Amino acid sequence: MQLQRGLKVYVEVCSACHGLQYVPLRTLADPGGPGYTEDEVRAFAAENYEVFDAELDDYREAKPADHFPAVSGDGMGPDLSLMAKARAGFHGPYGLGLNQLFKGMGGAEYIRSFLLGFTDEEDEVAGQYLYENTAFSTGWVQMTPQLEDDLIDYDDGTFASAEQMAEDVSAFLMWAAEPKMMARKQTGIVAVSLLILMSVLLYLTNKKLWYPVKHGGREADL
Ligand code: HEC
Repeated sequence: MQLQRGLKVYVEVCSACHGLQYVPLRTLADPGGPGYTEDEVRAFAAENYEVFDAELDDYREAKPADHFPAVSGDGMGPDLSLMAKARAGFHGPYGLGLNQLFKGMGGAEYIRSFLLGFTDEEDEVAGQYLYENTAFSTGWVQMTPQLEDDLIDYDDGTFASAEQMAEDVSAFLMWAAEPKMMARKQTGIVAVSLLILMSVLLYLTNKKLWYPVKHGGREADL
């Protein structure tokens, strides 16, 4: 549900200025994603997006195989497909994610802080408006504050407070950048559990094998 809400925030608010061009629409139906059915994704694509088809030499409704559109131009922001991986938490030596470990600040947490970090101060520099943001690296950003309470209507009835929307869209962007994260973490837990089990069994086997040597003359016990 959170990913569905995040998608809605992205579509209704952020997509005015930010593309998501590396994310195929069909992944909205993938396991571990927002959990739409293939039919729902087909309808969502057709309703929301048009793409230029070189074969038809014309625009047509988007299909699940198409990607979210790219957005570019004056005043537009950077593509958000990989933003959650590109920021804060994944920095540090060799991309070890040490920031996330020490500061609790991963890519998703950064986006949340960024969206909520506006102070309502603005400044004009060389004809360019800048907005103060406590999470942004330079403190002043070109993006206008976006989220205010009750900005959109969630389908599941959740109240769309600014915090709620910031969290939901951050979770959605984390999934967009790293769709297999949950699956990978689950595999990791299973793998580590099996390795622990193996270690215990090997320890016991080792004890058993060395038993006759350590207690000479009692092979008969084996
Ligand atoms: C009115 C246009 C506009 C809208 C709407 C908008 N943004 Fe932005 N956004 C920008 C611009 C422009 C920048 C680049 C700012 C800069 O580099 O100074 C930006 C930058 C960003 C960044 C990058 C910050 C960084 O660390 O470089 C993130 C993340 C972001 N926006 C997320 C969002 C999200 C999420 C939404 C929807 C809730 C949203 N934006 C809505 C214009 C917009």
